[in-house]
Amino acid sequence: MQVHKYDVVIVGAGGAGMRAAIESGQRARTAVLTKLYPTRSHTGAAQGGMCAALANVEEDNWEWHTFDTVKGGDYIVDQDAAEVMAKEAIDAVLDLEKMGLPFNRTPEGKIDQRRFGGHTRDHGKAPVRRACYAADRTGHMILQTLYQNCVKHNVEFYNEFYVLDMLMVEEDATREDGTPYKQKRVAGVVSLELATGEIHIFQAKSVVFATGGAGKVFKTTSNAHTLTGDGMAIAYRHGIPLEDMEFIQFHPTGLAGLGILLSEAARGEGGILRNADGERFMERYAPTIKDLAPRDIVARSMANEVREGRGAGPNKDYVLLDLTHLEPEHIDAKLPDITEFARTYLGVEPYTEPVPVFPTCHYVMGGIPTDIEANVLQDNETTIPGLYAAGEVACVSVHGANRLGTNSLLDINVFGRRAGIYAAEYAKDADFVELPDNGEAFLENQIESLRSAEGTEKVGALRAELQEVMDADMQVFRSEDTIRRAIDKIDNLRERYKNVAVQDKGKRYNLDLLEGLELGYLLDIAEAMSVAALHRPESRGGHFREDFPDRDDDKWMVHSMLYRDETAETEGVKGIRFDTKDVTMTRYEPMERKY
Ligand code: FUM
Repeated sequence: MQVHKYDVVIVGAGGAGMRAAIESGQRARTAVLTKLYPTRSHTGAAQGGMCAALANVEEDNWEWHTFDTVKGGDYIVDQDAAEVMAKEAIDAVLDLEKMGLPFNRTPEGKIDQRRFGGHTRDHGKAPVRRACYAADRTGHMILQTLYQNCVKHNVEFYNEFYVLDMLMVEEDATREDGTPYKQKRVAGVVSLELATGEIHIFQAKSVVFATGGAGKVFKTTSNAHTLTGDGMAIAYRHGIPLEDMEFIQFHPTGLAGLGILLSEAARGEGGILRNADGERFMERYAPTIKDLAPRDIVARSMANEVREGRGAGPNKDYVLLDLTHLEPEHIDAKLPDITEFARTYLGVEPYTEPVPVFPTCHYVMGGIPTDIEANVLQDNETTIPGLYAAGEVACVSVHGANRLGTNSLLDINVFGRRAGIYAAEYAKDADFVELPDNGEAFLENQIESLRSAEGTEKVGALRAELQEVMDADMQVFRSEDTIRRAIDKIDNLRERYKNVAVQDKGKRYNLDLLEGLELGYLLDIAEAMSVAALHRPESRGGHFREDFPDRDDDKWMVHSMLYRDETAETEGVKGIRFDTKDVTMTRYEPMERKY
């Protein structure tokens, strides 16, 4: 086993991780550990844009952007965080421009901007052009640009190093009011090198988690195979809470039956959703901004059309995205990749035929709780010195119950940058925390028990069953019955997971083993999502309870916080403790959410 020592270790090389590394790498000795080669990270799949109130093509300002973010998130957004994000958005885009990102341009040479769901002029009066973009490859361009700038700043990458555990210690401490408590401190991370199967310990003064989301909990998802909730699950296993895990985003336009993302930019450029009768049904659900309503509303409206028998296709199980009224030259210039996806994967020609679409799991609004300096919280009052999180793995919370499209590429740039700066500044004055004895033992045991197990269960089969039940019971519509069904199934899968065996017993490139470990994370995260969903008897944003269809601000204008706690029980599930955290409100009182 090798031990490495860095001031700052960043886990994950997507947009948040690399944006953090650019800052940290200029201030402190920094290493980035990543499951993938950095330029293959999932940020590269983000398509339509990154928003900022540049007002390059229409009147706009950061206050309108903040309002849209808060309203889009169904008022459970922490408004101080949303203000930071909307204000810093402008510099975040200009920084990328200076780093060399090839944004689309207006005829005058300014960064061009397009419409996206939920982004409006003057508090909801009409859609506004706020999304800066590079055709429908904005995430890809961001990823390449950030990587080049990491190289420029000599950031050290450890590629195909899977971080599978964190090293933490607890110290006795006293709160201001005199109550004693255990203060967590981070000492480093434990990682497995894919090529050799060797375990490496990285000791660090600061650790930044930027490991992305957990969309692979679902079968129908726009997420890459690697998005298995690792960072969230590792933190959760160390007693760090997970915040707002019931809020999962279903992107309206996944390719029907496949879940592959077709950017909302298609509607931003004028595309229209139609049911089997050819009706532009969003006019009924969101009369002012129609197809450009926030994603939770559009996804539910689509699912409702299908439920009520107005779905298209032989099984009436999807709706249609109509681009046929757009000029082919316009489609080619603005939406080249996604129209190619429709041709390749569905054999549909978007110039002349509408594209079959249905909601696909796209984003987890919840995650590891942080403050606006990206510090991870160990409870509602206390941060963990030296531990940071940014991007989809984190919940700061700028997205509340429903993220607006293009706020994610923004979030990773704004809070990734902040995490890098604060982590490096902390490391300047901090000492290394002593590594616990046998820090690698937990991971070694896990690996050994999977490798040597003679069980009859297979990783792939269990994962498929998990994804099926999440698709069936935790999707756009939920109720106590469906959620309980999901929880019971997850419980059953957890038992069977103890009897899982991997086929590949070797050390090098053992993806079979790694998928076994990832399945453990998926099960933890699916359980957290389902228990949190059961615990919130109201409907808000991406969490729609058919048995409680209204928002309940009197009781539920709070964040939910789930803790792993062997002594506790929540909703009949042993080992989970439920708590709440107040929402930070600055200027916007909750209002009815009409569009
Ligand atoms: O539709 C899209 O292009 C996705 C953007 C996002 O999730 O922010």
